[in-house]
Amino acid sequence: MSRESAASELLSSEAEYHSSLGSAFQGDSRELLEELPDNSVDLVVTSPPFALQHEKEYGNEGQDGYNDWFLEFVPEVRRVLQPHGSFVIEIGGAFKRGWPERSTYQFELLTRIVNETEMKLAQDFYWYNPAKLPNPIEWVNVRKIRVTDAVTHIWWLSPEINKESAVEEGEQPHPEANNQRVLQEYSDSQKDLLESGEFNDGKRSSGWDIDEEAFANENEGSIPDNLIEASNTASNTHYLKMCREFDVDAHPARFPRQIPEFFVEYLTPDPPYDEWDAGRLDRPVVLDIFAGSNTTGKVAEVRERYWLAFEKEQKYVDSSQFRFLTEEEITHRFNDDQSDFGDFATLEDDD
Ligand SMILES: C[S@@+](CC[C@H](N)C(=O)[O-])C[C@H]1O[C@@H](n2cnc3c(N)ncnc32)[C@H](O)[C@@H]1O
Repeated sequence: MSRESAASELLSSEAEYHSSLGSAFQGDSRELLEELPDNSVDLVVTSPPFALQHEKEYGNEGQDGYNDWFLEFVPEVRRVLQPHGSFVIEIGGAFKRGWPERSTYQFELLTRIVNETEMKLAQDFYWYNPAKLPNPIEWVNVRKIRVTDAVTHIWWLSPEINKESAVEEGEQPHPEANNQRVLQEYSDSQKDLLESGEFNDGKRSSGWDIDEEAFANENEGSIPDNLIEASNTASNTHYLKMCREFDVDAHPARFPRQIPEFFVEYLTPDPPYDEWDAGRLDRPVVLDIFAGSNTTGKVAEVRERYWLAFEKEQKYVDSSQFRFLTEEEITHRFNDDQSDFGDFATLEDDD
């Protein structure tokens, strides 16, 4: 038996594997969520199977019925989240089958979550994938009447936003968030501006009066916007190399590391956690309820948060371990079929 992580003790089921900070479980998330205590998770970041037109290998709900299915998970996510917690969902759009007409299912889902559950929309984000292939080919390449759909929606939801006492007492309103943890490098024009100190101060058409000093404070970077740009084209990551090496199919619908990375850093505090007493455990817990290849768990591990991964397909859980093991450790596992991997190597970030 490999070492257990502190996070695994939140559940009664046995984990498939552990790292030093997290544990992966095989099963239906609706059941695994029920095992978690109330207020035990600080952040849920996930990418559900999309309601696509075609049955994909990893199993999609059809467009009809998808929202009813998804809504079965939300009250349980709400229950296990801390009041300061967040639920981040990356969800792809779709054209209606056989027509150049977009489905509005993901907007209807968002409206239903906000109206029918206790979750609120903190902010919407967009993942722009510049390497996205034209799709659907019929409308984009053949008839040339639509353009490439290169953006997917990301909804950042939270159980408590309008906490009046927090506003009255001048506390930081929920959810836990800090854009200073995700500052980006200044663009060249911003650097020029900071150097020259020449700002267009004065009244804007929006009515805001921009103070001369407003942009003059040089921080360590610029505040990001709600567009996350990331290609999904890396082919030489440790995970993909190990899948090829051990002749295992890689997960077909991974999201890029940058998505969980941004939200883990933005929505949970960084170590050290000496003074962190907001959680059930001694550091934040990040959960992915549709974990696939466990991109989220790997990101959380590298950033020293606890993590939990729930995935219903055994084969994806099995290969997701590659993210945490060296080639030698995987060989040892395959050859001897032992469940004890010993200590985990500290592998670099991986897509
Ligand atoms: C889009 S993929 C997630 C990919 C993941 N973000 C990654 O980077 O590898 C969705 C995953 O949800 C899993 N899934 C679908 N229904 C599930 C359920 N009820 N409980 C747990 N996992 C489920 C699928 O098997 C699939 O692996």
